[in-house]
Parts: sequence; C-alpha cells; structure tokens
Amino acid sequence: MICLSVTSQSLEEAIRTAVAEADRIDLVELRADLLREELSHAIANFPDRLDDELSRSGKRHFPKILTIRRAADGGAYDGSEAERQRLLEVGLGSGYDYVDLEVDLRESAPGRALEEVARLAGVRVIRSLHDTEGVPADLEATIAQLSERAGEIPKLAIAPANSADLYRIFAAFPRIRDRGGILVGMGTIGIPTRLLARVLGSFLTYCSVGRRKAAPGHLEPETLEQVYGYRRTGPSTRVFGVLGNPVMHSKSPDYHNRVFRERSLNGFYVPFQIDDVADFVRIAELLDMGGASVTLPHKSAVIPHLSEVDETVEAAGACNTVVRSGEGWRGVNTDIPGFLKPLTRAISLSGAAVTVIGAGGAARGIVYALAREGARVLVLNRTVERARELQQALAEMHGFDAVEVGALGPEAADALRSYGDVIVQTTSVGMAPNEEADPIGWYSFSGREIVYDIIYTPETTRLLRRAQAAGCLAISGTEMFRGQAEEQSRIFCELLSR
Ligand code: ATR
Repeated sequence: MICLSVTSQSLEEAIRTAVAEADRIDLVELRADLLREELSHAIANFPDRLDDELSRSGKRHFPKILTIRRAADGGAYDGSEAERQRLLEVGLGSGYDYVDLEVDLRESAPGRALEEVARLAGVRVIRSLHDTEGVPADLEATIAQLSERAGEIPKLAIAPANSADLYRIFAAFPRIRDRGGILVGMGTIGIPTRLLARVLGSFLTYCSVGRRKAAPGHLEPETLEQVYGYRRTGPSTRVFGVLGNPVMHSKSPDYHNRVFRERSLNGFYVPFQIDDVADFVRIAELLDMGGASVTLPHKSAVIPHLSEVDETVEAAGACNTVVRSGEGWRGVNTDIPGFLKPLTRAISLSGAAVTVIGAGGAARGIVYALAREGARVLVLNRTVERARELQQALAEMHGFDAVEVGALGPEAADALRSYGDVIVQTTSVGMAPNEEADPIGWYSFSGREIVYDIIYTPETTRLLRRAQAAGCLAISGTEMFRGQAEEQSRIFCELLSR
C-alpha cells in the first residue's frame, strides 16, 4: 500500500493535498507535529473533513493514520510528552484507523493506557521505532521487540550510513514481512527499501509531496506511479537496478521501467547508491536480482565480482551491465555498441580519421571500438603520458597500431584537422555546472567534421553548439545514452522473457 504522509502546516492544506493525491494512494498519515495551528482541533477534525471532501470530489475514502512525531525521532513535535499523549487520545476518538505509537510508550502507565484506549476504539497501533542516526546492531532482536503485541504493526525506520547497512536491512526484511510490519531505510541510501516495499512484503511505503518531505528519502506519489509503476510490483517481480554513487540523477529508472511496462514484463528497476560493490553483490544475490546497470565510479571495480565477461568488457576495462548467469554474474559493456550506434549511422568508420579528446576510462572503450571498426585514431589528452599508456595497452591487447597520441592544446590544431572526419569528446570539460568550458576552444571547425560529445548534461555542450554553428553534424551524449540503454534493455528483457 502507498501511504501519503501529509506535511502541511494547516488542516485545510492537509485535506487539499490528500484529496489531490487520492487516486495514487491507499492510506493517508496526518503528521500532526508539522501543523502550525491549534492541534486538538485539527487532529479531531481531519478524518471527517477529509471524508466529506473526498465524497464531494467523487473519490473513495481511505484509512487514516495519526502520527505526532517527536523531534528526537526526526519529527517536529517539541511540546511536553503529557500534552502529546493527550492529543493522541483526542485522535483516538476521532475516526482514525491507525495510530503511530513509539515502542518506548509501553514503558509508562500513560503510554500503556493509550494502547488500551486504542484497542477499545478499534484503532490499530503501528508500534514504531525511529533511529535517525544509524541501524541498530541487532536488527532481528529489535524487530522481535517491536512485534511483542499481537495485532500491532511493527514499524522500524532506520538510517543506513552505507551499502553494508543497506544489505543488513534487506537481510532483515523476511522478519518484518512475517509480522506484517514496515521496514524503512531512510535517506538516499535507503530509497530501494521504500521502492521494494511491495516486492519484499512491507505493510506499506510512505511518500510525501512538495518540498517539505515528511522524512529523508521520501518519493512523490507521482514519481512512484509514473517513473516506477510501483503498483505493478509484487513478491514475484524480478528486481533490476543501477548501482552508482551518486545515482539519484540517473535517467535509467525512467527508461527501463517504461520498457518493462510497455512490454508487460514483471521487472522493476531501482537506483542503488552503493559505496562498495561487494555489498551490492550480496544485495543482488539476496534479492535474486536479474541484472543491473553499473555507473560511475563502479565500472571497473565491478569486474572482479563477475564470473564471465564479454570481450568488450575486457577491452574497455569497464563494465556497465551485469546480468545473472547461472550462479554468477556476466559482465557486458553496452556503452560500446551504444556509442557506435549513432556514429555508424552517419559515417563508415573503416579508414576514417578520428580524434578522441581525453584518455580516461570512457575514452579507453571508445578508442577500442573505433580501432576495431577500422578507424585511424588520434588521442589528444591533457596528460600525454596517459594517452600513451592507452595506445600501448591497445597495441599489446589487440594489436591495434593505428592509434596516435598528442598533447591537448592549440599546438595540436593541425594534427586534429588531419584526423578530423570525426571528433569525439570524452572528458568532463563542458559538463554542468561548467557549461561554458570547451576543451578545444582553440580549434575552428571546417564544417565537415562529425562532432560527438559524450556528455549528456547539458544535452548540447558549448563544443556542440560551436560545431553546429560551423555546419558540422553534431551528436550528443543523449544519443549514446539511448543507444546503450536500448542494448541493455534488450539484455534485461530477454532474461525476463525466458
Ligand atoms: P572518465 O572515466 O569519465 O573518462 P577519467 O578516467 O577520470 O574519467 O578521465 C577523465 C578525462 O578527462 C581524462 O582524459 C582527463 O585528462 P587527464 O588524463 O589529463 O587528467 C580529462 N580531463 C578532466 N578534466 C580536464 C580538464 N580540465 N582539461 C582537460 N582534460 C580534462
């Protein structure tokens, strides 16, 4: 179920927000600690007022949760505990279906009295524990403690600090599922726990709207629906994802989930912010994932974890796609076909003279691909030694002897002109936020060059704008992204169709 946490400061706005999202959610949680008005009145009136508004808009009613989150638990309530408990009691007689009561309330007589009032009023207790600082050492024991009372819904919201913590949370999921509970990893690292709530059997996932998020890592209901197709997922859904760091800017979830939906395939694609690839491999095995995209900075680090790699991975020294293969993982590099696709539509590379700007990780796969297609390649790099290393590696591994090198600078203009059928830009120069930078600002285009910049933010770099103005054919990194994503999607879909 999808639960909208309303973070509004007024009752009116809270109701408007819940009505506006009604078609995308299954429950609503009033975060009363965030209201900036007379709390008793707002808490007492929210359920009936919301139902009236829903009826008026012709929308169905849904269950309501009352929560008054304390500051120590990541909320905004800073009044006395006695007053908070009085407000909770007001709520228990006002038509809520659930109330969120923290686990420590069991230790005091008034806290236990609240539990009794809830039982008599037929309001189900969500028994919560929040740790905004980390992940408890013994997760299983914590879940067992939360689950002591039959009929209550245990809820554990914790803050993974790294991908090892994320693994521990996933490993604890079966315990919470068996008890019909809720397990949430907060923050960016925890986002997969929110997205996989249906797959892993969490009672609900929380989301919120607007800039004022109810908790770190909350997604919008619209994102859950439109990017992820969250409601399509369930226990039999095969999980895919992208591992990177950072990763939340990735366009891949949008792309791959759309393809899965269009083809009615039971796959779900989730971003994982991972600091150590070994943790991701453990997570992927625990979740029986089908495959994953690999992005910066893990494209090389992933290779030792693979049981087989194809020739493009070896040549590029980089892997951007992993897919389940028997007991292990197979590595593929779809950046290379993705890179070639728009280029070979425009020119036959056999015998073409191509300049590659840069000699880093991305350049290596690209120079390999160009040389394999029969192009003569000039690599220009700020550090010429690095270009030389690349030249040597390709000569030793593949016997390519048509790679020249040079230092990146105005003195290379003539060489560039003679290797000017295609110019491929692989450095980060010109990428947002340094959009005004141009790595070959000193070069004036003849107009006959094909200019390919693999940067995709911005879609049109300064270099490409200059090339277009001179009449060159310009290819942007977005086309390479699309090309590699199509190839990756083919691999993922094939696995799902088996
Ligand atoms: P990637 O895997 O994205 O290629 P990388 O391996 O760090 O990343 O390589 C970055 C490339 O961009 C290198 O060619 C680097 O040049 P150096 O080898 O001289 O470092 C190039 N690069 C980065 N910043 C640059 C700048 N300001 N001017 C010129 N080249 C730059």
